[in-house]
Amino acid sequence: MELDPETVQGNPHGKPCRWVGFVSVAVRRRSRFRSVAMVESSTTERMSLKDRKCVVTGGTRGIGLSISKAFMGAGAEVAVVSTRPPTEEVTKSLTELGKWHLINGDLGDIKSTEAIGDEALEVLGKVDVLVNNAGVAPVDQLETLSVEDWDKTMAVNVRAPFMLAQKFSKGMIERRAGKIVNVTSIVGSRGVHMHAAYGASKAALDHLTKTMTVEWAKYNIQTNSVAPTIVMTDMGKKAWGDPERGGPMLARIPAGRFGEPAEVADAVLFLASEAANFISGQILCVDGGYTTI
Ligand SMILES: NC(=O)c1ccc[n+]([C@@H]2O[C@H](COP(=O)([O-])OP(=O)(O)OC[C@H]3O[C@@H](n4cnc5c(N)ncnc54)[C@H](OP(=O)(O)O)[C@@H]3O)[C@@H](O)[C@H]2O)c1
Repeated sequence: MELDPETVQGNPHGKPCRWVGFVSVAVRRRSRFRSVAMVESSTTERMSLKDRKCVVTGGTRGIGLSISKAFMGAGAEVAVVSTRPPTEEVTKSLTELGKWHLINGDLGDIKSTEAIGDEALEVLGKVDVLVNNAGVAPVDQLETLSVEDWDKTMAVNVRAPFMLAQKFSKGMIERRAGKIVNVTSIVGSRGVHMHAAYGASKAALDHLTKTMTVEWAKYNIQTNSVAPTIVMTDMGKKAWGDPERGGPMLARIPAGRFGEPAEVADAVLFLASEAANFISGQILCVDGGYTTI
């Protein structure tokens, strides 16, 4: 967006004061650089993912399905990762939107995750955008949470995002372009009953987002987290479907409602697009204001 020196000076009644004059000179000087750096396209064009090759883990149901659809609606070719075949309805709805690939595998397993990364590169040719959306959330109190559940949560929610990002980063670094969006949670920054492993995993993934930015932003790879509050998917229902548990959480959300999968998908689409080229290392809370309290 071009800055208007008149607006910057902002003094319609007389001579600009000294600091305003300084700003004006600075704006004129910057504009020389801006002419090189400014993006000469419309916002609609910058939000497009036309011909982008994207991977969405957990992309066949819940929030991930909305992300797959939003990406395909924006012109992307998408490889969705899932542990099982999607329903006929999901298959049909994705096929109607464009070109997509199903990659079956288990992100809780190291070998399978490696194979998922290889297959994604094989079917897409390259990966421009990685969305680490797949996740698991054991609901248990600290005293009884099993080590197996802890390990599985860390494997799916943190290790797999790290492994896939590392694999696809090679091409992104070579091409000097890439986007990584990690779907985390407001539970990564708040203590929440019965979510010890889940919260720790999301906090770790948010931290990984920042480290990826520190190491990769110089290669024009933007990495961000999207952190939703409760969304009534299968995961949301399991943890918060009981009004006794969900009610108090709902009461804490200033917007007075839970989120929708499409609202999370819109935020992910924005961060995956060129419209967010100068945003990196951020945690975008899609939470109706939950984290402001
Ligand atoms: N729902 C919420 O309230 C909420 C709030 C904040 C953040 N989130 C985050 O949003 C993301 C999506 O959650 P959701 O609500 O859509 O959950 P969901 O409906 O339970 O879907 C989870 C997805 O992750 C995939 N997945 C799970 N384990 C996997 C594994 N081992 N290997 C490969 N894929 C695996 C599932 O694939 P299959 O279908 O093949 O099993 C499924 O597509 C998660 O990262 C979650 O933590 C959710």
